[in-house]
Amino acid sequence: MNDTSAYQPYVEASWGLMNHWYPALFSHELGDDGLVGLQIAGVPILLRRLGGNVHALRDECVHRGVKLSLQPTCLTADTVTCWYHGFTYRLADGQLSAIAVSPEDPLIGTVGLQTYPVVERNGLVYVFVGDADYGAPPPLEADLPPLVDRSHRHWSPHVLDDDAVVLGIRRRVQSNWRLGCENGFDPGHIFIHRNTTLVRVQGWNLPLGMRPVGQTAVSWLENDGDGPHGVRNEFGTDAYLPVNEHEELGLEPLGDGVPAGSRTSMWMPCCLQVENFPQRGLAQFEFYVPVDDQTHDYWELIVAHCPTDADRARFQRDYDDIWEPLGIYGFNDCDIFAREAMEPFYRHGGGFPAEVLCATDVMTVAWRQLVSRHNRGVARPGRPVAPDPVPPPSYRPAS
Ligand code: FES
Ligand SMILES: [Fe+2]
Repeated sequence: MNDTSAYQPYVEASWGLMNHWYPALFSHELGDDGLVGLQIAGVPILLRRLGGNVHALRDECVHRGVKLSLQPTCLTADTVTCWYHGFTYRLADGQLSAIAVSPEDPLIGTVGLQTYPVVERNGLVYVFVGDADYGAPPPLEADLPPLVDRSHRHWSPHVLDDDAVVLGIRRRVQSNWRLGCENGFDPGHIFIHRNTTLVRVQGWNLPLGMRPVGQTAVSWLENDGDGPHGVRNEFGTDAYLPVNEHEELGLEPLGDGVPAGSRTSMWMPCCLQVENFPQRGLAQFEFYVPVDDQTHDYWELIVAHCPTDADRARFQRDYDDIWEPLGIYGFNDCDIFAREAMEPFYRHGGGFPAEVLCATDVMTVAWRQLVSRHNRGVARPGRPVAPDPVPPPSYRPAS
C-alpha cells in the first residue's frame, strides 16, 4: 500500500474543493428571466438572470429542502418562490421575504438562502462556491492560470482576454473530478491520442509521452501573491525528454512537427490550460467541475484572439468544421474513455493507496501536493447528496 500522507487532503477531496470559482453555465444558457439549477461540489445552486445580472442562490428551500429549480416560480421580478408552499426569497440577499401560504409568519425576515458571488466573462458564467462564513471571495483571476505577457514568444490567448472568443461544449463524465485533472495534465497520457485524426492530419510527431527530467520539470505557480495555485509542465525545455519511439514495441513517430509552445498547466480548483493548442496561436482550456463524488462536468473550450468581426467569423468556421469534430469530440473522447475506465479503481479513494506510479507521474504527485497544501477548503457535503437527476446534454454557445 502507498503512503498517501503527503497529499491526504487531496485524497479526502472526493467532492471537490470549496471556496473557489467554477464555471457554471455558458451565458447563452441563461436568457433574460431564465432560471437554471445545477450542482457543484455537492452544492445545489440556482442561477437566475435579472436585468442582465446573474444571481446565484442555494437551490434548497429552507422549509423542506426541495430544489426550487425543479419548478421555477418567480412571482415578482426580484424574488424566487418555492413551488411547494410558497417560501419566497429575495434574489439580492437570499432573505425569506414572504410565505404564500402563511403571510404573517414570524419566520419571515429571520432566515434565508445562501447567495454566491457571480462573474460573467466572455460567454461564461462563473460562480464562487463558498462556505457561508468564508467572507469576501478572491477575484476570479486567482482561480485561473495567469495571463501571459503578449510579448512572450509563446503567447496564446486566455479566456479572460478582452478580445478573446471562447467556443466549446460541456458534457458530463462518469468519473471523479480528480481523474479529469490528472488525465488532462498527465505528461504520460499523450499515448492515448496518437492515432486520432487531429494528430494525423496535422502531421504532428506527437511523442508517446513526455518524460520529466529532474526537479525543474515541476514548477508551482502563483498569480496573486497568495501562495501557489497551479503547476505547469514546461514542455519544450530541458525539463522534459520527449519519448518519440519505442523500438521493442514497434512504436514509430507519426509525423514531423509538434505545436510550439504547447505547455500545459493545471490550476486550482480544476482548470487545465494548454497553450498553443490545437494549433499555434490558439489555446485550449478545460475544467473538470465536480458534480458529486463520482461525476464531473467536463468543459472543453478553445480560445482565439479575435479583434475584428472577420476574425470572429473565421474562428467560428474553423471551430465548427475542424476543432469541434476533430479536437473536442475526436481527440478528447480518448480522455473521457480513460477517466471513466479509471473510475471503478479510484471510487471512494480506493485507488490512491493501491496505484503503482511511474516516472512520468511526478507531475500528478506535485499537483496532489499543491492542492493539499493550498486549497481553500475541501467539500464535505456532510450528508448524502443525491446525484443531479437530469444530466445536461452537451451545450455549446450559439453561433
Ligand atoms: S418546501 Fe419550499 S416552501 Fe415548503
Ligand atoms: Fe488528453
